[in-house]
Amino acid sequence: MTEIVIHGSSFYNEDCIAGCQAHIPDASVDLIVTDPPYGIKGDTLHKHYNRNEAFVIDGYIEVPATAYGDFSRRWIAEAARILRPNGALYLVSGYTQLYHILDALRATELVEVNHLIWKYNFGVFTRTKYVSSHYHILYYEKPGPGKRTFNLACRYGLQESAPGGGSLNYRDREDVWLINREYKPAQVKNKNALPTELLVKMLQYSSCEGDLICDPFMGGFSTARVALGLNRRFVGFELSSAAFEQGVALIQALTPGELLEQVRQPQKGRLSHQGHTWSETEISAVYQRYDGLRAEGMTKKAAFEILSEEFGRGRWALERILKRRGSTP
Ligand SMILES: C[S@@+](CC[C@H](N)C(=O)[O-])C[C@H]1O[C@@H](n2cnc3c(N)ncnc32)[C@H](O)[C@@H]1O
Repeated sequence: MTEIVIHGSSFYNEDCIAGCQAHIPDASVDLIVTDPPYGIKGDTLHKHYNRNEAFVIDGYIEVPATAYGDFSRRWIAEAARILRPNGALYLVSGYTQLYHILDALRATELVEVNHLIWKYNFGVFTRTKYVSSHYHILYYEKPGPGKRTFNLACRYGLQESAPGGGSLNYRDREDVWLINREYKPAQVKNKNALPTELLVKMLQYSSCEGDLICDPFMGGFSTARVALGLNRRFVGFELSSAAFEQGVALIQALTPGELLEQVRQPQKGRLSHQGHTWSETEISAVYQRYDGLRAEGMTKKAAFEILSEEFGRGRWALERILKRRGSTP
């Protein structure tokens, strides 16, 4: 086992199951973002050599398909243990072993938030069937007394419109994500590296600066790089020494917070309906939306922020209109 601490974050060259048990306390992690080995047959992955039942491929350690179910149950149980209540997990999976992953998730206390589809370019070319060009992203949360972090307007303001019409915020939050894989000719990289854009999106919505992010399968350290780039803290594991050494060099070269300047800032927008006369239809839409948000467990303050964005009205105007019907839950 090797532990390296860089920029205050910990990187372990170790099996993640034993590593979590040894180093990560219960309920201590805010968010897990990970992409476990696929468990696809070794012969389709151009096996170089065999060691401890694991196939080592250019610094990528695979898990034999026959062991995948047990392997998934064991690491996902650890993931559930280390997450704090209301913490979340994003798990990227292909479809081949998806049933094992879903089974393992169901054996924990974690609950599904969304089953996302990531659609990418350069799918696996086929002539006799459809081209495979998506991954599953399982977004789960650990139940708790508080609220899961979901930064609703962290990328697009609720009033921002797309050039052809429609809400940019709504589009960004649809459950099919069109994000291209990165094409980096002549650069050393883990061939399964997740795109920065994908990771930025998950981390922006589901974590805040200073939160602790964990990736049990670091591979090319993409999650770690984005986490530190967005000023989060990080802890992670990688079993392959070759991948670990390459990843550590990348982390040493970055500056924490460096991505914060590059990410898009949501636009707040003017209150489009301020001063306009209220129609009865608008009033009943406000009542209905407010009740819905409160029924979802949202605080009054957060509910008013959303109403203000959606209806283009100021907080006081909204409060006045809600007081009109009597009690405001
Ligand atoms: C699909 S890759 C992760 C790629 C990564 N998300 C990225 O963007 O670069 C899975 C990684 O898990 C590593 N791995 C396999 N078994 C492991 C284990 N038991 N503990 C820690 N890492 C493991 C593999 O060597 C591989 O690098």
